[in-house]
Amino acid sequence: MASIQLDKIGKSFGAVDTIHAIDLDIGDGEFVCLLGPSGCGKTTTLRMIAGLEQPTRGSIRIGGRDVTRAQPKDRNIGMVFQDYALYPHMTIADNIAYPLKVRGMAEAQRHEKARAIAEVLHIGQLLDRLPAQISGGQQQRTSLARALVHPADAFLFDEPLSNLDARMRVEARAFLCHLQRSRGMTAVYVTHDQAEAMALSTRIAVMCAGDIVQYAPPLEIYRRPATTFVAGFVGDPPMNLVAAQATRCDRGITLRGGGLEMSAFASWPALDRALDRGDRVTLGVRPEHLRIAADGAGGRLHGKLFANEAMGPESLVTLDLDGGVRVTARVFGDAPVLVEGDAAFAFDAARITLFDSAGNRIDDPV
Ligand SMILES: Nc1ncnc2c1ncn2[C@@H]1O[C@H](COP(=O)(O)OP(=O)(O)O)[C@@H](O)[C@H]1O
Ligand SMILES: [Mg+2]
Repeated sequence: MASIQLDKIGKSFGAVDTIHAIDLDIGDGEFVCLLGPSGCGKTTTLRMIAGLEQPTRGSIRIGGRDVTRAQPKDRNIGMVFQDYALYPHMTIADNIAYPLKVRGMAEAQRHEKARAIAEVLHIGQLLDRLPAQISGGQQQRTSLARALVHPADAFLFDEPLSNLDARMRVEARAFLCHLQRSRGMTAVYVTHDQAEAMALSTRIAVMCAGDIVQYAPPLEIYRRPATTFVAGFVGDPPMNLVAAQATRCDRGITLRGGGLEMSAFASWPALDRALDRGDRVTLGVRPEHLRIAADGAGGRLHGKLFANEAMGPESLVTLDLDGGVRVTARVFGDAPVLVEGDAAFAFDAARITLFDSAGNRIDDPV
């Protein structure tokens, strides 16, 4: 396995600047997800690492070696595409063994290797079939087997699970998680599914419009989102965001907004600096940190019940705040949540995240 470094990588298609100047340092054995909405440049970044797309600017190293101008076949990587890209006229065995064939391995030996990896992926009984004769999930595992059959320095995945139904996707995700734990492979994994990124990554690179806006371990992204974009993209349901006016008073700071009130709390240096600039703030609070209560020592959100969804292990309760913003609370347990009409959520001051008017997190109090 090998490390991967992107140094100020940029890509323009004609006059359109798609990727700006990405720096990304991926350690040996790390599993890094590129996470972001459709069109933000994930596939383009992955294809540049693979050598399928030439960067306009910057350089790429794999295992310390500059490969910016190297051919895909000289980068020693395995790649899994969204559409599996299996050869329809070849058997499953030949599909899996294909990377070994192009590297000149003898037929008996490459079929033995294909069989071994197929057994691990539970498709050993399908080796004589054609792709059209197996299910979508089996095709996806065939595609994985083909990428994994030869000992690459790194593996690149482009939304490999997106064509699977929900249940199979969760199963395949656990399988990839297991594979990563047991093989310690270096991987770059493109997804727009935040749950997949949370489950699989050692670190997540959150992308927005051709830039990486945050690069950190999953729980740090979850707990300390760098921007309102990250806060609103990670988590299901995502972090609630409510615009607020912050006012200094003799006991500290109070927050007010449409449907929001918060008791005075002690300011901290970064918040003071934001207020000195005259910034309005955005309050962020995760659904699991809201409880259904009209009072409490910290903050309160008032509104009208919009939806009350009993999911089994939890209920999702959504209010339309007096200011028009919609916020959701996650209430754990399978007991019905009794709430109707005018309702309120309460939360502790210690659970809030604040963002400045540019949408950047105001550094936490230490
Ligand atoms: N070959 C190409 N020519 C022109 N524009 C492209 C090409 N490939 C991608 N793009 C554009 O670059 C942007 C990023 O695309 P992509 O990397 O596929 O995003 P993602 O994988 O995050 O959905 C999109 O606006 C897309 O239309
Ligand atoms: Mg893509």
